[in-house]
Amino acid sequence: MATGPSRPQLQHLVLNVRDIEASERFYELLGFERSGTLEGAPVEMRFYRGAEDRHHDLALIQLPDPAGAPPVPEWKMFTEQPGIAHLALAYPDRGAWLAQIRHLQEHGVDFAVRGDHGMTHSAYVVDPDGHGVEVLYDLPEEVWAGDVNAALSYFKPLPTRGPKSLEDNVDYPVFGAEPAAD
Ligand SMILES: [Fe+2]
Repeated sequence: MATGPSRPQLQHLVLNVRDIEASERFYELLGFERSGTLEGAPVEMRFYRGAEDRHHDLALIQLPDPAGAPPVPEWKMFTEQPGIAHLALAYPDRGAWLAQIRHLQEHGVDFAVRGDHGMTHSAYVVDPDGHGVEVLYDLPEEVWAGDVNAALSYFKPLPTRGPKSLEDNVDYPVFGAEPAAD
């Protein structure tokens, strides 16, 4: 029997956007499909899902006065501005992820950052409103579970353009697995 608060799971994300058509095209390139629209409300709001068994993972709301919004900020991994640094989308396996990053590149979506973390391999793209989106696949638990902090702190930058940005090394470093020094 539960004796305290249970652990939540991040369930969906809602973004206010300057141009809902441009944002929809971007998120459809990432594999989302529209699952519904909000009816009977004074805003244009659309819902999107990854898997078929989801009602929505993402929603977009059209800003009523996009011309009055601040300019789209330049995305950086680390910034002095408050707010969302990036969101992350996981693909089911390495093959699906490789196909996805190729698909993005073929459609002219630049990688702002490309690299290997200790627990994911990732490409970062930027949506039309300047939100960073990490496109990743999760590495097997046995490579990161031995020292989660070391895995989280590891990053190997890779080329962001051209065919080399689509290569993926599966010789994953294993964290916390080194035998004790004698
Ligand atoms: Fe991330």
